[in-house]
Amino acid sequence: MARVVGGIGTSHVPSIGAAIDLGKVGDPYWRPLFDGVQPARKWIEDVKPDVVIVVYNDHASRFALDMTPTFAIGVGEQFASHDEGYGPRPVPVCHGDPAFAWHLVESLVLKDEFDLAMVSEMTVDHGLTVPLSLMFGKPEAWPCKIIPLCVNVIQYPQPTALRCLRLGQALRRAIDSYGPEIKVAIFGTGGMSHQLQGERAGLINAEYDKMWLDRMESDPDSLSRIGHTELLREAGSEGLEIIMWLIMRGALDSAVRRVHRFYHVPASNTAYGLLVLENA
Ligand code: DHB
Ligand code: FE
Repeated sequence: MARVVGGIGTSHVPSIGAAIDLGKVGDPYWRPLFDGVQPARKWIEDVKPDVVIVVYNDHASRFALDMTPTFAIGVGEQFASHDEGYGPRPVPVCHGDPAFAWHLVESLVLKDEFDLAMVSEMTVDHGLTVPLSLMFGKPEAWPCKIIPLCVNVIQYPQPTALRCLRLGQALRRAIDSYGPEIKVAIFGTGGMSHQLQGERAGLINAEYDKMWLDRMESDPDSLSRIGHTELLREAGSEGLEIIMWLIMRGALDSAVRRVHRFYHVPASNTAYGLLVLENA
């Protein structure tokens, strides 16, 4: 049977991707951040998942505002890097796992009433590629299969935090019911506090972010009751992305073991957070 080996929560700031692509990870500005990520890279290198389900948001790249699926899953063979205005990032193409992705869809739709959009052709933007680069560096090919699970966090109304936690729990049931013996990791991406526009551009709320990191481990239910108004106020308009971490958390056991935790501000205008969790 398929087995969940753990989950990673990580911000997906595009300038981190640029720092990797341009060979700046050793620069004084970036070094502390990449040093803090090392234990997570070591963990995933040791664990060697066969498939990573990357929960991320598209930033009006593949899905422009003319069509915004609340939840969408990539069921195709491969997913290339999207051109977000500076050319596609020079990263390997993601190879999907159509058989597993279709199993997840069937379980989510038919058994758990999560009606995801099924996407056979999609490009993926920094929301997905930056976490892969952070965890795997600059390989010729990504070391595992990738299933994109895309969440709308940019167009109102976004799904609630509770809906995200429940989707994660349903995702776990779907993974557990897959026959082949594969190791599966889940990435929850986005956040932490940041606001890129308006009067509060540059907002970072370290206290609030640390509360989220604490409770992601010990009390995700309380996070799932947080409403969008609080998130906008405390974490900023783009900080709302953090609800995607709850999908990752929902797919783990109630009791987890923390492998690594790291927090660093700023990464350009964003608070960078990282959490690696295993089932206890
Ligand atoms: C930026 C964009 C993001 O999607 C994000 O999550 C954080 C920062 C940016 O443009 O700086
Ligand atoms: Fe983002």
